[in-house]
Amino acid sequence: MESEQLRVLADMDYETLASLYLNNHFIFCPGPSTELELKPGLSALVTGGSSGIGKALVVALAQKGIFSTIIDLSEEKGKEVASLTETEFLKFSVKPEFPAVLFIKCDVTDTNEIKAAFRKHIDTYGGLDICINCAGIGSSIPFDEDRTDGGKSWRLTVNVNLIAVIGCTQIAIQKMQETRKPGVIINVASASGLYPLYTDPIYSGSKGGVILFTRSLALYKHQGIRINALCPEVLLS
Ligand SMILES: NC(=O)c1ccc[n+]([C@@H]2O[C@H](COP(=O)([O-])OP(=O)(O)OC[C@H]3O[C@@H](n4cnc5c(N)ncnc54)[C@H](O)[C@@H]3O)[C@@H](O)[C@H]2O)c1
Repeated sequence: MESEQLRVLADMDYETLASLYLNNHFIFCPGPSTELELKPGLSALVTGGSSGIGKALVVALAQKGIFSTIIDLSEEKGKEVASLTETEFLKFSVKPEFPAVLFIKCDVTDTNEIKAAFRKHIDTYGGLDICINCAGIGSSIPFDEDRTDGGKSWRLTVNVNLIAVIGCTQIAIQKMQETRKPGVIINVASASGLYPLYTDPIYSGSKGGVILFTRSLALYKHQGIRINALCPEVLLS
């Protein structure tokens, strides 16, 4: 795209831009006037932060002096990550009155628990700069063998992997809009959301949903809120 076209798009108001976008005139989204720059003192909320990819992200953020709230069902592992992260934080003298990490035992499928966790994060750190939706599960019973109502199998997978991601993204956007500061939301999807996973169609479907949900939020970039999906291939966690 030519630079003049880019400038014209960047100057458009949100409604014009949205209508052009919805009418499929282009799939390009102009950048925000401001974008979040990673620096010590920011704060992140990470679901599924007790283990695997979420844990690695919490530690990586701490190495940049970024405070985290870990939201997870696993209290034991969450507290281990919290103490690991506290040592990373010792080299930063930024906002020493804030805890390096907050662990909140919480089920991402429980709307009230999730709302309370976001509230606690904001009360503790005074805002929300980064939200990483990483909690995820595979199906516990093969789809074609499942004779249950799905409440503890395929419905749960969809609830954790897709519905909870939608709910947390919505709350994160609202919190970021309230503070009128740039923010970043990362939804951890999967390569299995880009192409079929024949052994777990529910997992694949839920991650595919996360990808198109996230891509459909691209225009929030116009408000300084960058929302992306991550699609890892298989990795040991
Ligand atoms: N490991 C992989 O190969 C791989 C590949 C692609 C995508 N992913 C995705 O990356 C994310 C992290 O995967 P991982 O391999 O690190 O998994 P993991 O099992 O190590 O970590 C997931 C965490 O989510 C938590 N969790 C699960 N259900 C929850 C709930 N209802 N409420 C709160 N917390 C809950 C678990 O307690 C756990 O700590 C998942 O969304 C997964 O689908 C993983």
